[in-house]
Amino acid sequence: MCGIIGCFSQNNCYEKLFSALRKLEYRGYDSAGIAMLAEGEGGGKISVRKKKGGAEGLAGAPMAGETGIGHTRWATHGAPSDANAHPHVAGKFALVHNGIVENYSRLKAELAAAGEVFSSETDSEVIVKLIARAYAGDFFAAVSSACARLSGSYAIAVLCEDFPGEIVCARYKSPLVAGAGGGALYVCSDIPTLCGEAEYICTAADGEFIRICGGEIHFLDAAGREIPKTFSRVPPESRAQEKGRGSYMEREIAEIPRALADTLAGLKKTDFARCARVLRGAKRAFAVACGTAYHAALAFKDAAESDCGIPVLCHTSSEFRYRAPLVGEGDLVVAVSQSGETADTLEAARLAKGRGAYVLAVTNVAQSSLASLAHFTVAMRAGPEIAVAATKSYNCQLLCLYYIAAQMHFYKFTRMPPWFSSLFELPGAARAAFDCFPTMRSLAEALTDKRSMYFLGRDADVVTAMEGALKVKEIAYIFAEGYAAGELKHGTLALVEEGFPVLAVSTLSRLTQKTENALQEVKSRGAFTILLSQSAEVLAESCAACKCRLPDVCERLMPVVAVIPLQYFACRMCLERGYNPDKPRNLAKSVTVE
Ligand code: M6R
Repeated sequence: MCGIIGCFSQNNCYEKLFSALRKLEYRGYDSAGIAMLAEGEGGGKISVRKKKGGAEGLAGAPMAGETGIGHTRWATHGAPSDANAHPHVAGKFALVHNGIVENYSRLKAELAAAGEVFSSETDSEVIVKLIARAYAGDFFAAVSSACARLSGSYAIAVLCEDFPGEIVCARYKSPLVAGAGGGALYVCSDIPTLCGEAEYICTAADGEFIRICGGEIHFLDAAGREIPKTFSRVPPESRAQEKGRGSYMEREIAEIPRALADTLAGLKKTDFARCARVLRGAKRAFAVACGTAYHAALAFKDAAESDCGIPVLCHTSSEFRYRAPLVGEGDLVVAVSQSGETADTLEAARLAKGRGAYVLAVTNVAQSSLASLAHFTVAMRAGPEIAVAATKSYNCQLLCLYYIAAQMHFYKFTRMPPWFSSLFELPGAARAAFDCFPTMRSLAEALTDKRSMYFLGRDADVVTAMEGALKVKEIAYIFAEGYAAGELKHGTLALVEEGFPVLAVSTLSRLTQKTENALQEVKSRGAFTILLSQSAEVLAESCAACKCRLPDVCERLMPVVAVIPLQYFACRMCLERGYNPDKPRNLAKSVTVE
């Protein structure tokens, strides 16, 4: 959700800002903008270039200035347009903002009554107006006093014409990191964007301010008091992926075997003994996550309940935080988030921690906000995931969660579950799943014009079906429902008609016949049926019109590989339909607002 960048460099910083915005586009790409502050006689002069569309729209003659701020937008308040693009300007100030000002209507009404005229529909413009009105010669004090009036979430970076060479930033519930390297100082929404630029980084906590001035970075509290901080080296795993051939999504699917192997290597080194007491003692667990990560959480529930006998209450984070969950002392709360910055998951984890629960994070970003608030972090090592649709991170989330379930089993029964050794077969099995791609490609070509489809499964296969449906909706813009096959007769069967595509995943031997019954039922009503299974026998005996053989690993772990053909299918559907899989409409990679 929106990416912000600020930079001070002894030389012109336009190119640095521009290249950072290209990297930040995964956070939002409906408009982009840059404001530069050039030192002149008696102060500085702010110039602004902003436009609807991606960062490439800002290309052109370099703008003048040693200090600058930039923004990629994911619209919340106000449609994507030149006027709503950031930076927003008021008086001597320019501002970029990531977050949502929840009390903006009230503030806007108050400012309008005082004679302020707004040139955008954004909540963000309210902040820069507040700063301009609060200003009496002290830049930092004006920003701090404006922030005191905001509720909601924000990471902001502000320029002031009276202070060339200076950027004042604030963070509350939206990520913000400072970096230094190569003769430049930065503030940014994420660490990967700074890779290759900054050598040292330091993250701001909620309520903290960052002030770049005099060629130095200062962390301050709201009263302007210095907060001691330690910078660390940019972690190697944060290094941004370079774009090669094809879309990021295709390349990220191709990286799944390697991502699983790297994650396994990291898991082997993880000291689970540090949370043994909780894993052994928890009478129940919660799992909180959003979107794809929520599907991974559902798979964890299956494993932990069936194999460890520990009930797992699985919630989407956005529901968990508002439904008075019965979470408390002694509970284990597993929070799953690729980015570690998803606002709802962070709040769910904070709420659980506040109630005395033990928070175990599963995240792909070691220095994320989620990792810093959790008691214990299990790191996925999927590498940077740029495409908005989660692919390799999902496979790695599943791997981590099965690994955690195995640890729970170990601490409870003093032995690993029978499938533990099969975890190490997953990278190879994932590679073998690529053999399904030609079938999935032909299927995507055949189904390009369909408007909707079903994905069916039973038990753990329902989760795979749900994830397949989410991918198809998200990037191919086809309505898809991931559904428990046994539920068809209770309503959804009504939509099935001639040629309606129904794809079933059937990997659990005790349920294959049940899934086959469902395929028979939809086929009798004209559906175009597709079946994925690792069993040659099940495929041979099926009525499905299109069959695809999955690689074989133990049934518990099948979700890790069964989803791969579906990820690829969604990607092919998207490409066949002429869309960009990396930047689906209306979405952004990191959902840092509620
Ligand atoms: O970074 P997170 O794992 O917390 O993100 C959660 C969801 O926003 C994310 O998985 C989303 O559903 C994906 N874009 C789906 O492909």
